[in-house]
Amino acid sequence: MRLSTPPFAPADTDVTDVDFLASTYYTEGDPHALWTHLRAHEPVHHFTPSDGREPFWVVTRHADVSRVLKDHSVFSSRRGTMLCIIDLSMPDIASDQMMPDTDPPRHGQLRDPLNRVMTPRAVAAQEETIRGIVREMLEPALDGEVFDLAQAALMFPMAFTGSMMGLPRETWDRMSRLTTMTIAYDDPEYMEKAPKPTLRQAHHELFSFFSDEIARRDRTDPGDDLIGILLRMSLEGEPLTERQIMLNCYSLLLGANVTTPHVVSTTALAMAEHPDQFRAIQENPQLRGTAMEELLRWSSPASHFMRYATADVELGGRTIRAGDPVSVWLGSANRDERVFKDPFTFDVARRPNRHIAFGVGPHYCIGSGLARLALRLFLDEFAERVEKVELAGEPVHLASNFVAGFKHLPVRLTPRAGTAPARSFAAAGAVA
Ligand code: HEM
Repeated sequence: MRLSTPPFAPADTDVTDVDFLASTYYTEGDPHALWTHLRAHEPVHHFTPSDGREPFWVVTRHADVSRVLKDHSVFSSRRGTMLCIIDLSMPDIASDQMMPDTDPPRHGQLRDPLNRVMTPRAVAAQEETIRGIVREMLEPALDGEVFDLAQAALMFPMAFTGSMMGLPRETWDRMSRLTTMTIAYDDPEYMEKAPKPTLRQAHHELFSFFSDEIARRDRTDPGDDLIGILLRMSLEGEPLTERQIMLNCYSLLLGANVTTPHVVSTTALAMAEHPDQFRAIQENPQLRGTAMEELLRWSSPASHFMRYATADVELGGRTIRAGDPVSVWLGSANRDERVFKDPFTFDVARRPNRHIAFGVGPHYCIGSGLARLALRLFLDEFAERVEKVELAGEPVHLASNFVAGFKHLPVRLTPRAGTAPARSFAAAGAVA
């Protein structure tokens, strides 16, 4: 998704022809221009797809987005939370089974045990592992050659979720690709034959990986990793079924893999575009905390989430009817001029920064602590080991209506004196 800034051309703000479902709109159109227009003139917009699929609402202001995400009694997650190629009027097979597709109190039964593995203490225990992974990812980029940071970053979360879920190392490359296929099913570099078969293939393979992993575990002693916890959990007094375990493995893996890499890529891009801000975080490590939050706001990798109204409700001057699908756009909320001073200015010292890149309310990202740790370690290593970042080609965006991110980001990094290159983990990112 293009991270554009004003002034926007009037042509970029014409709502009439926009297809909010089309992944290409987010790579070729100018969503930030459109969202700015919608926030000002039609903050709760009704969109009817031209291909007969179910209409839905498009909510763009920070206050309205937050209200929808917080109020689960009126805006339910039970019918699914993502726009995708499947018709919204179809039943959601994960409804009430997969944590993101549940409402409280059932949601808490799935979330509380998983939360215990995500406590700050549990997350902090991962620090040295993740720092090592970050170093390995950066090392091949420091030899002065052109390096595709986006490709290397796509593998980055696998290295910590893969270990936290106890998944065999030899499956990580494929799992990383499969998770990208689920959200970029019509991107030519990820599509296999056609969009729907791509989505089906990705789901089929991911679920067989999880099924094999579950079969491999000893049910009496399934281990302390995330799959082990799911194997020990119960829902309304009954152990989770294999399907429920697989769905929740899927949501954890997807949650990490399709978001975190794009903040990593945005870090490199933002530092190339704002060398003064890069200098500031190199010289003042105390700025790196606010810088990381600004990078989350700036990139907002999870672009939208969905809810379904359970009752008639007024929002932004419009009446949403019971049963209507409602999409909320986090990338727009995070540029809302009502909340952020100069929202289109990238400012590593921004404070306050009330971004909602991790959402808000009961479904607030369960992996936020882990993601923050990983991103902070990346920022530290990047600031300490890289002297200068230059773009060595055009960034290429991932075609997706769900994720704002990159599939290629060619950069040339100048190492800081004393950082020796070496090779390993992210050789995948090296451009031949
Ligand atoms: C920069 C990285 C990340 C971003 C921007 C992000 C964003 C989000 C957002 C906006 C939500 C709220 C969804 C909703 O309201 O329906 C969410 C939920 C979730 N995230 Fe993340 N996420 C990130 C990293 C992670 C990681 C590392 C994991 C796994 C370890 C993860 C797993 C999940 C799960 C399972 C949920 C559902 C929580 C629930 O339903 O209670 N995410 N994430």
